[in-house]
Amino acid sequence: MDKFVIRGGNPLLGTIRVSGAKNAALPAMAAALLTDEPVILENIPQVRDIETTRNLLAAMGAEVELGYARAHHRTTICCRTLAAPEASYELVKTMRASTLVLGPLVARCGTARVSLPGGCAIGARPIDLHIKGLEQLGATITQDHGYVEASARRLRGAEIVFDKITVTGTEDLLMAATLAEGETVMQNCAREPEVVDLADLLNKMGAHIEGAGTSTIRIRGVEKLHGAKHRIIPDRVEAATFIIAGALTAGDLNISGCDPQHLGALLQKLGEVGVKIKQTTDSIRVMGDSPCKAADIVTEEYPGFPTDMQAQYMALATQSDGTSVITENIFENRFMHAQEMVRMGANIKIEGRRAVVRGKTPLGSAAVLASDLRASASLVLAALVADGETIIDRVYHIDRGYENIEEKLRGVGAQIGRIGEILPKRAAAPSARA
Ligand code: UD1
Repeated sequence: MDKFVIRGGNPLLGTIRVSGAKNAALPAMAAALLTDEPVILENIPQVRDIETTRNLLAAMGAEVELGYARAHHRTTICCRTLAAPEASYELVKTMRASTLVLGPLVARCGTARVSLPGGCAIGARPIDLHIKGLEQLGATITQDHGYVEASARRLRGAEIVFDKITVTGTEDLLMAATLAEGETVMQNCAREPEVVDLADLLNKMGAHIEGAGTSTIRIRGVEKLHGAKHRIIPDRVEAATFIIAGALTAGDLNISGCDPQHLGALLQKLGEVGVKIKQTTDSIRVMGDSPCKAADIVTEEYPGFPTDMQAQYMALATQSDGTSVITENIFENRFMHAQEMVRMGANIKIEGRRAVVRGKTPLGSAAVLASDLRASASLVLAALVADGETIIDRVYHIDRGYENIEEKLRGVGAQIGRIGEILPKRAAAPSARA
């Protein structure tokens, strides 16, 4: 298992370019299941969750072609024939977003078999709202041996009111409804930019969707969708992570290729904290030359403060003057990074869904463990300002969602390296010729 070794203390200076959004790319790839024509996706990040999705689609019979050289962030997916509309436990257990194939498969093939994802480090994460919505669209659902099986001759439009706002739930049903007979009206939908990006792609494929980005989405079903070419939006969570890195390290960082409009809640909070920010339409410059003061955050659905940026904000809070209260409203168990930061010298108390961070405390070197994707990013941030060398174990989590993070950070002056597991010495190594 790879580890990061980070020597803290360097201010980050220069420009970092943001990759395409993993959370927009995953549903876009699943959308290719809805048509027998090629879907060309550009600005696909080179991260492990994308690899997993390619494997998942290929296992169903999709032709997945990778771009190379200058086009290496492009992938073409053609689901002309789908031999096995199934997502196995082996794939779903490594990436919960695999459940995004459920809606498109039943809409296109009339049948789908997808493993139930089970819990994960940050909480229970059920998919009951995906299932309930598909039933409302006319699918028959059974659950057996840890799999959800859905079937429908043709889905039919329905009124769906989500009991709770769910991002992939909205995306899953949005895709399914594009091929349903008649109109679907979905209420209490997620308003995340990734939902809007998916709707843009689906409309290019011939769907009739209105209202994406608001809480009511209307879909007029069509018989067939066709191929399309689409560029994935920039990754707002990656951009936010680097913005916080610039602020934390008292650096001067230009984050290019991002969309500041998707970062409203974070930028507003950083303004409150005292971080100097300048923005253009596609870049953000962060100047971390003044001390930060504490400010509370409460995670909410978009456009509120994102849960995916909570851990990184906590790293900043440890270095801000005063007490910050961080309330996590979306997932019930998303403070695993706090204990690791405490091992580095932070003063954090967890009280149920609230973390009380008392700053500013110096952080020192320690060996810490990454528990999930965003937690890993927060530990990298903490390590960038820690005194001495921090070793972060289980960085495979970060490889799921951050493209070349160590190269990007090294490019702006961070001291970060990756080491493979140190294997025990073998007693007698066999000779190469034997
Ligand atoms: C997506 C993002 C993830 C982000 C999360 C919240 C992707 C691939 N992942 O995850 O990075 O942290 O949104 O912004 O886009 N819930 C139910 N029943 C359901 C579905 C969800 O109770 O059927 C609950 C969840 O347990 C959670 C809340 O709803 O408490 C929000 O979850 P949801 O928006 O569905 O998260 P994901 O789509 O899995």
